[in-house]
Amino acid sequence: QRPLRRLLSCPGTVAADLRREEQSSGNAETGSEDRTPKKRFSEVQNERREQAQRTVLIHCPNKINEKKFLKFLSQHGPINTHFFYESFGLYAVVEFCQKESVTSLQNITRTPSLGPEAAIPFKSRYFNLKLRNSVNQTSELSSIQCSNQSSPSSKKLYQLLCCAESVDDQLNTLLREFQLTEENTRLRYLTCSLIEDVAAAYFPDCAVRPFGSSVNSFGKLGCDLDMFLDLDEIGKFTAQKTSGNFLMEFQVKNVPSERVATQKILSVIGECLDQFGPGCVGVQRILNARCPLVRFSHQASGFQCDLTANNRIALKSSELLYMYGALDSRVRALVFSVRCWARAHSLTSSIPGAWITNFSLTMMVIFFLQRRSPPILPTLDYLKTLADAEDKCIIEGHNCTFVRDLNRIKPSGNTETLELLLKEFFEYFGNFAFNKNSINIRQGREQNKPESSPLHIQNPFETSLNISKNVSQSQLQKFVDLARESAWILHQEGKDRPSPSSNQPWGLAALLLPSVTNNVPLSKKKKKPASERIKNLLDSIKSSGAENSIATNGR
Ligand code: CTP
Ligand code: MG
Repeated sequence: QRPLRRLLSCPGTVAADLRREEQSSGNAETGSEDRTPKKRFSEVQNERREQAQRTVLIHCPNKINEKKFLKFLSQHGPINTHFFYESFGLYAVVEFCQKESVTSLQNITRTPSLGPEAAIPFKSRYFNLKLRNSVNQTSELSSIQCSNQSSPSSKKLYQLLCCAESVDDQLNTLLREFQLTEENTRLRYLTCSLIEDVAAAYFPDCAVRPFGSSVNSFGKLGCDLDMFLDLDEIGKFTAQKTSGNFLMEFQVKNVPSERVATQKILSVIGECLDQFGPGCVGVQRILNARCPLVRFSHQASGFQCDLTANNRIALKSSELLYMYGALDSRVRALVFSVRCWARAHSLTSSIPGAWITNFSLTMMVIFFLQRRSPPILPTLDYLKTLADAEDKCIIEGHNCTFVRDLNRIKPSGNTETLELLLKEFFEYFGNFAFNKNSINIRQGREQNKPESSPLHIQNPFETSLNISKNVSQSQLQKFVDLARESAWILHQEGKDRPSPSSNQPWGLAALLLPSVTNNVPLSKKKKKPASERIKNLLDSIKSSGAENSIATNGR
């Protein structure tokens, strides 16, 4: 239980939030752990996809009588759940119990007549609700409780972090505030499902599946929506079942390579989304990239979407990250904090360039956790040895096999605190021999770099690829400097933490202050020593062994 003293020293609104949270969840301390997914990845994907197919998206008038709205929709069948959210207008996401209800609703829906303009009569599951007699109904209209789809402001975050009990509590708070909510996850699967409807006009049995941070359990509210057009299911079931002397094949158009096929398909789907995809704007076809894609914004959901095709390996790496995230409750908390730390110091950016990506940072955290003693996470090679025949998976010649049943992996015996792990993470990478060594989660140990890129992180499945090939020497140096400095701050903090009433940022809050880049000390207590000096100081503290009691006891 969080002592009342802490709550009382917090600014009013936050304290109220915290109290509400404690009342509603019963046990606020384990809130983040409760959300750690334990189901198999494929189970979650299938359930969510099926759920999304029974769901509709409705643009509503700004004020609406919720009860009447639900009664109106229930004429088409029972409703399982619904929620409202705001994004340049009020929207409702409504999940029916049966798919037929959606068809029934579509059957009474008309295509608008827009006066001088003309509408393209595409019948999707994205509707516009109008009030018939707006004058008569005004008295019954009420404001609706909306589900929040964005991450907290930095101000609120600092307040929450400063009110936390310990650094561990800070990391769990950050995770709780930034992780994708149930509603946001539903909206992501729904958006993919709506795009699938457009693609299905050409490929009726296709699937549009989310991958990347939307599904790997490391997604932050506001992150992009990566999706891929899966055409592999087409014909899978019919093909093998026939017997006898004959074998039937479709007559198809042949193109020079898989890449050209992908480009042609994405080109047409991109055109379709642009020309008549409801709510799809700013469609760009980036077909000459290493991985060709269509980028667009889905206005109603507010998601920036990247649609690729033929990308099963990326889905597999999302599954692997999902497994790592579910194996130990410390993993996600640590990854979220490192990602937020990197964002706060502009080490990552939403614009592509020579920056480290979130995907690379996640790999670094996983690698670091494999290096602990005893290890917190198993290596990918070990997960491969646990695999059975059904787990076997070869994609385009790459062996992507690993055990998929989480229950077959023994939990780690390591009991290190998040505070210690965060500090050690910064120290580890502040001293890592990036010039010689490569990071490799398959074997869980450093290897000689096979090429000269400043940062080398091996792609877990396409092992000849470096996922951080784009990172420049200066960006890597900035990462190293910040890591050293952050390790230093946590060391100092452990000794001399400001009192909660002083309102001074401490622990994780101090690390997130974007002051280092301006050459202002992160910690106001002492002047910042230069990167090399910090390294030496940390080394000497380590060798004297003086920090052990502070580090392992936490607070
Ligand atoms: N990916 C990859 N190799 C890369 C970059 C990306 O295999 N060099 C795959 C990963 O599976 C990654 C996914 O593509 O998860 C999506 O990439 P991206 O959107 O850059 O990363 P996310 O993990 O989704 O993180 P973010 O929240 O920053 O979008
Ligand atoms: Mg992404």
